Amino acid sequence: MSTLSGKRARRLHFAAPAALRLLTTAALFGSPTLATAQTAGPPQLGKASLKEVLAALTTAEKVKLVVGMGFYPSGFPAGMLPPGDPGDKDVPEKVPGAAGRSHAIARLGIPSLTLSDGPAGVRIDAIRGRDSSRTFYATAFPVATLLASTWDTAMVRRVGVAFGSEVRDFGIDVLLAPGMNIHRNPLGGRNFEYYAEDPVVAGNVAAAFVNGVESNGVGTSIKHFALNNQEFNRMQLNSHVSERALREIYLKGFQLAVRKSQPWTVMSSYNKINGTYTSESPDLLTSLLRQEWDFKGLVMTDWYGGHDPVAQLKAGNDLLMPGTAAQTQAILAALKSGQLTPAQLDVNVTRVLELVLKSPAFKGYKYSSQPALKANAAVARQAAAEGMVLLRNEAQTLPLAAGRQLALFGNTSYSLIAGGTGSGDVNRAYTISLAQGLSGAGYTVSSAPSQAYAQYLQAEKAKLPKKKGFFDPLPVIAELMPNAAMLAQQAQLTDVAIVTLGRSAGEGGDRQVANDFDLTAAEQALLKQVSTAFHAQGKKVVVIINTGGVVEVASWRAQADAILLAWQPGQEGGHALADVLSGQVAPSGKLATTFPVAYQDVPYATDFPGKALASAGADNSVMGKPSENTYAEGIYVGYRYYNTFKVKPAYEFGYGLSYTTFTYGKLQLSAPTLAGKLTASLKVTNSGPVAGKEAVQLYVHAPTSALAKPESELRAFAKTGLLAPGQSQTLTFTLTATDLASYNTAAEAWQTDAGTYTARAGASSLDIRQTATFTVPKAVLVQKSRKLLAPQQPIKELSVK
Ligand code: BGC
Repeated sequence: MSTLSGKRARRLHFAAPAALRLLTTAALFGSPTLATAQTAGPPQLGKASLKEVLAALTTAEKVKLVVGMGFYPSGFPAGMLPPGDPGDKDVPEKVPGAAGRSHAIARLGIPSLTLSDGPAGVRIDAIRGRDSSRTFYATAFPVATLLASTWDTAMVRRVGVAFGSEVRDFGIDVLLAPGMNIHRNPLGGRNFEYYAEDPVVAGNVAAAFVNGVESNGVGTSIKHFALNNQEFNRMQLNSHVSERALREIYLKGFQLAVRKSQPWTVMSSYNKINGTYTSESPDLLTSLLRQEWDFKGLVMTDWYGGHDPVAQLKAGNDLLMPGTAAQTQAILAALKSGQLTPAQLDVNVTRVLELVLKSPAFKGYKYSSQPALKANAAVARQAAAEGMVLLRNEAQTLPLAAGRQLALFGNTSYSLIAGGTGSGDVNRAYTISLAQGLSGAGYTVSSAPSQAYAQYLQAEKAKLPKKKGFFDPLPVIAELMPNAAMLAQQAQLTDVAIVTLGRSAGEGGDRQVANDFDLTAAEQALLKQVSTAFHAQGKKVVVIINTGGVVEVASWRAQADAILLAWQPGQEGGHALADVLSGQVAPSGKLATTFPVAYQDVPYATDFPGKALASAGADNSVMGKPSENTYAEGIYVGYRYYNTFKVKPAYEFGYGLSYTTFTYGKLQLSAPTLAGKLTASLKVTNSGPVAGKEAVQLYVHAPTSALAKPESELRAFAKTGLLAPGQSQTLTFTLTATDLASYNTAAEAWQTDAGTYTARAGASSLDIRQTATFTVPKAVLVQKSRKLLAPQQPIKELSVK
């Protein structure tokens, strides 16, 4: 950072004419009067050069630009708000419910930017003040994990385009999404906001999303950079992790997203990596992100993230959100003492101004606050249907024939969970339940259970305490237990039983094993009773899993004839479910995160999420306690672990059934050796009875050298278009040395070893259909790096014996 700021400062100094140099000095230390005296008026952003605008800014104004404002959440814990006045209460709120804003400097033509969450839809207040005559609902799209399960970057881009139009039409400049941390452990409370356990999926899906959103002329913020893989004491957690695991697993997705979409902004995370807050880490934010990866945009903190505002600015964290009076004072004091140079501040301010220049606010975009909700709901519905994963389908239980009589059980059959809680929540106008979706598709939803659930849910919802805090989880309503007589009657009267199991999670807490990852006793009893009653009548039982994260399935799946994983499918979920259950859409989603047999199978399961330090003082519900955890599994995350250590999962990474089948033709390589790049192609044919799409995954098994390698790693993926029965499509994957590289910590370099590689085209990580080998004749040094973000002490990592 110091070199960069030095260079910029020098350029500024030499380029500026004498009068301007004088002005620069004057501006840094106080009044801008000289500028106004010598020109017709102060330079205006966009008209004058950035240098001139920078020179005209006072120190106080510069500090304003790097310290945000405008966070007035209802129900936010007071303990988290800074003591004292954020100083901006008198600035009228532009978009109520947005997460924050940057300061305007009106005299120089610098408008304020509005930033809003989040990954599943624009999160703003639906009702402004007491006036409910006009509403501001946004579309609740399916959660990120579902989007990744489409394995369809074109589909995700479409979602991004629709989503971004709402960002723009609601008057927002930067969307605080996508979330793209790795699913390290199924209990991660915000996993639904993240894509996958694999960085190639996460990075490519994020890039598609960013490109879609930003095609509307608005910005995104890829978050949380990096390692916010759990919520446990997130603001004071120090994660110990090896350089290799960081590079190959936790940073690689961000690196890919930067390379393929160059997002307007990055949001640093709350936690520390190897002893340093990410927002204060020059290694992370400057050496890696900017110098090695060539990121051109702005970095902002997560809300109240980090500890030392001066260290943040120096590290390359340009905007401190949502800004506190204490930060402003600390920065001013550091400028005075010389601890922060004016040149450094100019670097940060320049990045803020560059962001402003691109924004709709700067361009004077006349937003309507009336996005195309209807059209966007259709996109949400289609994406939802394409990301649902058919886990089980014995004897072609699904699709359900038209006109069937269906008995629906489970609270969430009638009250679908559209998304998660916290900043990933969306104020939506409606949520289509499974019952509504199926009725709309022409099925008869049996009235006895329907009425019983309606009455029960209404009564139980009335008893629930009002949600007070922002981080309050969605209250769980105990499962209604249908009585035996009703069950027996339904098993006779109707054709199929559907049982929905629902889960909610969100920011502020991780999930638990008991009653969350595992089924509750009531859910187990419900499943058992329904399946016994229906199977006794020769009727089928379908289970819908309505969750944002992974749940245990192995112990109970035999009771279900079919299992459809709906994830949290957004407001159109019930329609999308009906589309898939009816066969209107053949399922084509596949898991981007492993479903293990039991929680204990997750590597270092019992060490998750970490522990509070012995020295930690009293808990504060929001800030948490100083804590730590160790990523002892190293690179063996998700399928890299299960496949290498031969732990059989319930449903493996990449798994998902369809109503049709596909055959894979021979995997053909463009050459037997890698010279620059290699293409692998294969013909996929729909060999089954109905139209469908197939996501093909290209794994590579690499030779072991000084570095151990996982059994296989996903290096590319592609999805066919809709193939009619008998129709084929050739998919082509490109591989370069960069795609195949591992991070060698001893050499501090990305390198691709010499030797024989096997390319494996799979329908899942375990269902490999075709293989082909190629050689890398000579080791390739892909990128030389240097020691960055190194562990404070050696980490004893899991290794292959
Ligand atoms: C979350 C971010 C979010 C921000 C603004 C934080 O608590 O971690 O993901 O963008 O709040 O709402």
